[in-house]
Amino acid sequence: MSEQWWKSAVVYQVYPRSFADADGDGTGDLRGIIGRLDYIAALGVDVVWLSPVYPSPMDDNGYDVSDYQNIDPLFGTLSDFDELVAKMHERGLKLMMDLVVNHTSDEHAWFEESRTSKYSAKRDWYWWRPARPGTTPGERGAEPNNWDSFFSGSAWTYDKDTQEYYLHLFSKKQPDLNWENPEVREHVYDMMRWWLDRGVDGFRMDVINFISKITDLPDRLVSQAEVPGDGTPYDFSRPRIHEFLHEMNKAVFAPADKALVIVGEMPGVTVDDAVLFTDPARCEVDMVFEFEHMGVDRGHDKWDIVPFALPSLKASLAHWQRGLAECGWNSLYWNNHDQPRVVTRFGDDGEFRVRSAKTLGTVLHMHRGTPYIYQGEELGMTNTVFEDIDDFRDIESINHFTEATSLGEPSADVLEKLRFMSRDNARTPMQWDDTAHAGFTKGEPWIGVNPNYKVINADAQALDEDSMLWHYRRLIRLRHELPVVAHGNFTMLLEDDPCVYAFTRRLGDTELLVLGNFSSQQQHLDVPDVESWLASELLLGNVFREKYDDPPSHLAPWESRIYRRRIHRREG
Ligand code: NOJ
Repeated sequence: MSEQWWKSAVVYQVYPRSFADADGDGTGDLRGIIGRLDYIAALGVDVVWLSPVYPSPMDDNGYDVSDYQNIDPLFGTLSDFDELVAKMHERGLKLMMDLVVNHTSDEHAWFEESRTSKYSAKRDWYWWRPARPGTTPGERGAEPNNWDSFFSGSAWTYDKDTQEYYLHLFSKKQPDLNWENPEVREHVYDMMRWWLDRGVDGFRMDVINFISKITDLPDRLVSQAEVPGDGTPYDFSRPRIHEFLHEMNKAVFAPADKALVIVGEMPGVTVDDAVLFTDPARCEVDMVFEFEHMGVDRGHDKWDIVPFALPSLKASLAHWQRGLAECGWNSLYWNNHDQPRVVTRFGDDGEFRVRSAKTLGTVLHMHRGTPYIYQGEELGMTNTVFEDIDDFRDIESINHFTEATSLGEPSADVLEKLRFMSRDNARTPMQWDDTAHAGFTKGEPWIGVNPNYKVINADAQALDEDSMLWHYRRLIRLRHELPVVAHGNFTMLLEDDPCVYAFTRRLGDTELLVLGNFSSQQQHLDVPDVESWLASELLLGNVFREKYDDPPSHLAPWESRIYRRRIHRREG
């Protein structure tokens, strides 16, 4: 297996609580996943990214870990986990564990010990600070600095017993670990080696660029334009991040005697920094998971939703394609457990749902990078229906609702934004069939099933070769079979066109032309040098025609096509 096997791989993300429930308690579990491995294998993917299954109070659905070396009883046992790994390996699937080490749960033994006293041996494992000088500890404004948490409110919580504050960039039940402390790093590396020995094939590392902080934790600058709730609450320079990741690589990844995949989830990472993180010579991570393109419909924060404009999306993705063309690697995704469903967000989840979902898939999968499919994306699952705030489960959404309404925003307005952008849209149960609860559980699901499961479900699509599911299988096969998809260079065409997404990929004498209409109207195509594609071969499309006008002069609403040609003469 080549060292960089993940360059031609496709990742499938399983969010365990919403994937498949075997024991009927309404929450998905490991045995549920085991029961669906044939489905995942039939898609043709290479890697499964498993969102956290560690013991957790579930304040943030498992992204608040209270024991790094066990499985939460809600999901099963370590022996279920071992069986999952073995059965995945039997099917040629690799397992990528979610690793959440920027913070622990406040119920982790490390934090429980840390909070006992200022003199605890683990005090320095977390970020404890006294109140701001000249203030009364515990009162508003006394927090050590002005950082906000990503989940609303201050990033500091006051601990009455020891009269200091601890830092939490996420909820107050997710205290940040102090990576400056070498003992913390050693314990984390030990734990990672333990999972590798148990059979896992890599890690998706949660907000891993946040582990290095400016140690004097300065106030962030507050600009005039800023409003409360800004989602980027602190300075993004992270002085020791490359050093920490290199150290981790040498301590954990390099000695492992197998082909791993290491992904760094890095909100706010720049292209230049991504090159450094993923340059193989620097031994840090294999690829970044960045967010720039998820910001194209975002104003000053994620709840300030601005209209989607295709040129901004193209500009962002093209910028990353160019920036990593010579060195480095990126992840490609539209969806994960933190994003609303893409067919609702950037596509048309009404009349052209299937066609637009196929076009979104086609365009993404033909970029350079490693594509990720989030459970249900391959079925064209959509955002769901939330009647009121009680239908939401996500801490980020609920906290935002509480904060925004307490500041005077009408609840109807806040709800409207949540309905579109809430992470819970991604977390409704996987739609397996048209029986009760979409075949996800025999019990009462922990979050409502999307009412459209009778129409959108895996069983129906498995029987229909024209379905989304089959389209995704074809896209994955193209990446595996055509080196140009994984390795070819990328050239964006028609950058300013508001409706058409067009680009070429080229490797040696093979060139692909990818075309996608991102609108519900027919579009005229103005592809440069289009005559040269006359004798090309149509590899995949999403609109059936008796006769194709190759090369096309028009695309039907949400139509997409992939062409291939051999280049016989030397060109530029
Ligand atoms: C990123 C994860 O993807 C998200 O779900 C989580 O809430 C935060 N990190 C905190 O761990």
